[in-house]
Amino acid sequence: MRQLLYVSNTVDELGLADLDQILTASRRNNAMMGITGLLLFIDGGFLQILEGEERAVRELYTRIASDPRHRNARLMLDREVPSRAFPEWNMGFERPCMDDPETAGMFGVAREAIHGRLSPGTGRIVAMMLQTFYAVQNSDLPVNLYYAG
Ligand SMILES: Cc1cc2nc3c(=O)[nH]c(=O)nc-3n(C[C@H](O)[C@H](O)[C@H](O)COP(=O)(O)O)c2cc1C
Repeated sequence: MRQLLYVSNTVDELGLADLDQILTASRRNNAMMGITGLLLFIDGGFLQILEGEERAVRELYTRIASDPRHRNARLMLDREVPSRAFPEWNMGFERPCMDDPETAGMFGVAREAIHGRLSPGTGRIVAMMLQTFYAVQNSDLPVNLYYAG
């Protein structure tokens, strides 16, 4: 199972209709391609984690990276994992309210990543936060947390 994590930025403030379109296409396509993951939209930037069969994930990332609705996609993590960390989400989505101190604390590391303020190699820590978020949202499910890079 391959897991990819990238961040990107948008030029103009993306509209709700754009986000809606991205999510509808993602959930439809990802279900067919066996892709799961999570997409965050923070401060006009994206952070997305994708997991699935290696070829499917790479093809999808190439397509996403050339999507004109964002720019400057940078991979932060590209690793093999023993099993899915987001099995129930063909594409989870969250637009955290960063005015709320608790939410801002939780997603702070994602915001720093989107703004390019993390050192190289910190993708694992961001993935850890996302997996914790998933585990909290799906607390009735067994938790697969991967610390290893
Ligand atoms: C930030 C971002 C994340 C995206 N994530 C996905 C995704 O997980 N799966 C997907 O199929 N398309 C995703 N897309 C959309 C693709 O770039 C592309 O528009 C879409 O796959 C085309 O699908 P369609 O031919 O079925 O319309 C994403 C786009 C953006 C800007």
